Amino acid sequence: MRARIVATGSAVPKRVLRNADLERMVATSDEWIVERTGIRERRVVDAGVASSDLGTEAARAALAAGGWDAADLDLLLVATCTPDMPLPSTACLIQRNLKASRAIAFDLAAACSGFLYGLSVADLYVRSGTCRKALVVGTEVMSSVVDWTDRGTCILFGDGAGAVLIEPSDEDRGILSTHLHSDGDLWDLVCVPGGGSRLPASAAMLADRQQFVKMKGNETFKVAVRTLEATAREALEANKLGVDDVDLFIPHQANVRIVNAVMERLGLKKDRVMLNIDRYGNTSAASIPLALDEAVRAGRVAPGSRILMVAFGSGLTWASAVVKW
Ligand code: UT7
Repeated sequence: MRARIVATGSAVPKRVLRNADLERMVATSDEWIVERTGIRERRVVDAGVASSDLGTEAARAALAAGGWDAADLDLLLVATCTPDMPLPSTACLIQRNLKASRAIAFDLAAACSGFLYGLSVADLYVRSGTCRKALVVGTEVMSSVVDWTDRGTCILFGDGAGAVLIEPSDEDRGILSTHLHSDGDLWDLVCVPGGGSRLPASAAMLADRQQFVKMKGNETFKVAVRTLEATAREALEANKLGVDDVDLFIPHQANVRIVNAVMERLGLKKDRVMLNIDRYGNTSAASIPLALDEAVRAGRVAPGSRILMVAFGSGLTWASAVVKW
């Protein structure tokens, strides 16, 4: 028995932050950002809007697309590195909003790889027979952890959410494989040092701006290319697929140069990739489900399409999934 994705949904805030807006905030230029990252604009929430709000909206869109009732959900997984609050989990807050009272609800932390980690866990729950109707949400308000005075990071991130519904399938389609990897030795490539138990909230911590994302951009770039290529190859080999068998490649949208480098190394054709980083930037755990939903709505996915998804993120974590639609 396989688990298959039944429907997708997504949500982004209305407010657009263009590169020209960032030019007024830090020493940067539209030209530099477009050339080095491929990003032209990103969405940011208004004050008071949190990850559970975007996640709920994306989940509702997926439920509507699949014709499912939230009351029938038995698993609700949320991947986020920007939870509404340390506790309770964002999953429980989304559960409350949806009135998904039967669901087991919990968060999962794997940063930008979070959605594929969630997909893998849901796949196992569904294939084991423990759950029949699962919802996986990737949702982020990255603008809440971005240091708007740091040009090395503030140009990259955006807010958004994506969601998928998963159920068992007897057919020869669905989630064909997932592969997950972690390497804690590389924990400090991308991190938010403050606000947890190591460095709890205090006036000194805030004054030192430790509540914001710190990133070794250049090192992260190199590790990202290496791990994404490796995990894509691992996924193809596990399914006995060649690169030409991939109908749609959905990489984590971190930097268009990372995606291009990986595609070149793999020999993947340019027309097979799904990119929306130009409009949303890096939305961390939301990036893949947001891109998948856009691909579905644009008609780029048909029954039988083989989709290869790959991600990397803080942790370090990296992951892949192959889906036959
Ligand atoms: O999901 C989270 C994972 N994180 C990532 O995927 C990030 C991966 N890394 C990257 O995407 C790239 O490393 C960046 C876009 C962050 C930076 O691009 P880069 O080509 O690696 O630039 P760099 O860090 O090597 O910096 C080159 C120059 C530096 O100036 P000097 O020292 O050569 O004078 C930077 O200070 O570019 C400067 N710079 C900027 N200039 C204008 C850095 N950020 C900016 C900026 N605007 N926003």
